[in-house]
Amino acid sequence: MKKHLKHQIFSIISEEADKLGQDCYVIGGFVRDIILKRNSKDIDVVTLGSGIDLAKTVANHIGPKTPVSIFKNFGTAMLKYKGLEIEFVGARKESYEKNSRKPHVEDGTLEDDQKRRDFTINALAICLNNKRFGEMVDPFDGVTDLKKRIIRTPLDPVITFSDDPLRMMRAIRFSTQLNFIIEEKTLAAISSNKDRIKIVSKERIMDELNKIILSDKPSKGFKLLDKTGLLEIIFPELFAMKGREEIDGIGHKDNFLHTLEVLDRIVPNTDNLWLRWSALLHDIAKPKTKRFVPKQGWTFHAHNFVGAKMIPGLFRQMKLPLNEKMKYVQKMVSLHMRPIVLSEEEVTDSAVRRLLFEAGDDIDDLMTLCEADITSKNTDKVKRYMKNFQLVREKLKDLEERDHIRNFQPPVTGEEIMEVFGLSPSREVGILKSAIKDAILDGEIRNDYDEAFAFLKKKAAELGLKPLSNQSE
Ligand code: CTP
Repeated sequence: MKKHLKHQIFSIISEEADKLGQDCYVIGGFVRDIILKRNSKDIDVVTLGSGIDLAKTVANHIGPKTPVSIFKNFGTAMLKYKGLEIEFVGARKESYEKNSRKPHVEDGTLEDDQKRRDFTINALAICLNNKRFGEMVDPFDGVTDLKKRIIRTPLDPVITFSDDPLRMMRAIRFSTQLNFIIEEKTLAAISSNKDRIKIVSKERIMDELNKIILSDKPSKGFKLLDKTGLLEIIFPELFAMKGREEIDGIGHKDNFLHTLEVLDRIVPNTDNLWLRWSALLHDIAKPKTKRFVPKQGWTFHAHNFVGAKMIPGLFRQMKLPLNEKMKYVQKMVSLHMRPIVLSEEEVTDSAVRRLLFEAGDDIDDLMTLCEADITSKNTDKVKRYMKNFQLVREKLKDLEERDHIRNFQPPVTGEEIMEVFGLSPSREVGILKSAIKDAILDGEIRNDYDEAFAFLKKKAAELGLKPLSNQSE
């Protein structure tokens, strides 16, 4: 392991720990990531003694002005060095009393500290003291689990999860991120403890969910959340999408599985968390809008608009940001069918201009979402859609170059209309404004001030409005 501890910080910590006469180890995710060959910038150091004292002497060694953040209540201290973030803590033992969830924390041995961690793969420690520098301490066979790609708790999983129920989400997140299997007993304990997740804050649950969404195969995580019963608790709207129904021999697809397929399909094309969220939520209103119309089959009328309306409530409830990110997801959900509908019909300039106008700068993301949404098993159908999408993309490019519709602002403003015709804010102003917008989007006039102004005068005359005399020329 020595070769992985070449960074100067480790020799500094080693020297200072020896001077203080404290045993000292690098522990947890950093050690796991060495073996997995993943890059990690967070280092956790555990010492038999005061973590705060060790951090102070290390900081002093680096330079007398090196800042140390001290969290007295937790007995931890943190400092930054050459792009690394190093946290120091004294080894702890936790004991739980029968009737209280609050642990009693006292100084402990290294093993006490290791066994109160979440998974065997996260409980590995490497000694930093000079005499044993680089020696791995692995009392729970974490290295074997890493090799076999297994997630397992060091203690009875019921205890580990009951101590901190967020670990149930972490198990599923690590399994998804690293493509590991959750050991049977550990998985069963998630199912039996699922209700304990209710005591964890939404923010922390969402951090884990976002990591699942940002992984290479998010469907794996969502299927595990479903299998263990967590999904129904943390995300009932997604859970409601599960299943197929059949009436008169006509069925519809399982919208949960379809959604997961769309999410997996969008992964290679975007790292944008919010575009991935859009994929996850694009059909979220299907359960709400589902109807069976005799002789016609299943319909999900206006599920895109109903879905867009659901987003603010969902984001609020899940403690996701209520800012432009939410608005972006709303826009994606509301427009997600437009390119498909467009590509099914004759692709007219006017329809493409309207799409470009509504999507603005997010048009490319919308096309990425739509392409991911084509999950049909019928390869001819998929080919046809993809070809039509290509056509839509070409038209978009062509029209954008010609007409500059993206982020277009009508060339004549409402204020100007009021001024020219001596109007106060009224219905007429709205009518004239949208008439100009429609004329441009339909290609009747170009996106140009003079053409728009001439058109405005003509339209206003039809409404019996005349320009005020000094403005008529
Ligand atoms: N840990 C734990 N239980 C938790 C969170 C963390 O036992 N609920 C322990 C694990 O030993 C973990 C270490 O604290 O390795 C550091 O936690 P953290 O930095 O949150 O996670 P990492 O394992 O480093 O992984 P990631 O950075 O991907 O979250």
